[in-house]
Amino acid sequence: MRILSGIQPTGVLHIGNYFGMMRQAIALQNEGEAFYFIADYHALTSVRDPDVLRENVRRIALDFLAAGLDPERAALFKQSDVPQVTELTWILSTVAPMGLLERAHSYKDKLARGMSPMVGLFSYPVLMAADILIYDSDVVPVGKDQKQHIEMTRDLAGKMNEQFGQIFKLPEPRIQAATEAVPGLDGQKMSKSYGNTIDIFGEEKETRKRVMSIVTDSTPVEKPKDPSRSTITQLYSLFASKSELEEMHSRFKKGGTGYGDFKKQLFEKLWEYFLPMRKRRQEILADKLYIDNVLAKGAKRANEVADQVMARVRKAVGLR
Ligand code: ADP
Ligand code: TRP
Repeated sequence: MRILSGIQPTGVLHIGNYFGMMRQAIALQNEGEAFYFIADYHALTSVRDPDVLRENVRRIALDFLAAGLDPERAALFKQSDVPQVTELTWILSTVAPMGLLERAHSYKDKLARGMSPMVGLFSYPVLMAADILIYDSDVVPVGKDQKQHIEMTRDLAGKMNEQFGQIFKLPEPRIQAATEAVPGLDGQKMSKSYGNTIDIFGEEKETRKRVMSIVTDSTPVEKPKDPSRSTITQLYSLFASKSELEEMHSRFKKGGTGYGDFKKQLFEKLWEYFLPMRKRRQEILADKLYIDNVLAKGAKRANEVADQVMARVRKAVGLR
């Protein structure tokens, strides 16, 4: 089984990324051959500063490795180290219906948030399909917001197979139901574009400040509170055991504890949860060449597979 996922180097990783995608991807490295890449071609649709892009790529690699990605098991690489993927994008775009792309939620959302309607942004799902198909991927762990892109990938693979014979495997999305959407500080989906994130490797003071700024209603300290709709309990549930969570729920319902105290409890738990990863991160940082070596090794493996698949594609469509 080949497992593949990608993450865009457009900013700093937050706990929504961790519970929505990274944790699952890291667990899956033990179940098959995992390929994880840093989607720098994708990031070009929004990052316009080359130094920032380079810095983001390194930081994502560092954070992913610190979070538990094991380069002995999984290949970690940069998308642009396999430039064949852009050739496959072109080939797929020759069978991609405009209507299919016009229905993409993420494109519509991005326009609604004021991004310019560039061709690259519009055809982003075709590049994403190429990312997946070029490695004969079986399983793609992603957050729920990426599900439609995987469906589009299956559509495009099906069209190619219909037209040219059995070239591509149809990949399956793997979405973790329990963490479909991690809420941000304001209760909306946590997202770097909403500025409501708690970063995995943020500084202690900043992280505490952010947790303390979680938006709540104005129920007074002494009154009972509704645990089922609180961002605090939703976030706490990601870190706490079942009994710890139940205990917080019952203290919510009882009244007598203010939101500030619950937030402190959440912060402590969260900080402790990522402690081993922060340690690992320091170790990686101490070895200057580590990240470059990991990325080079990952790229080599990814290229081997991509070359094989592209030879098959070129032959099938008549380029060879
Ligand atoms: P952002 O919304 O911060 O820009 P990305 O779109 O780069 O995050 O998402 C990277 C990965 O993390 C995707 O697989 C996405 O589904 C997942 N993800 C991002 N935010 C969340 C969230 N709040 N809850 C669950 N998964 C998330
Ligand atoms: N579009 C994904 C995101 O924004 C990142 C991504 C690019 C990806 N190519 C992929 C994820 C291929 C999984 C498989 O999060």
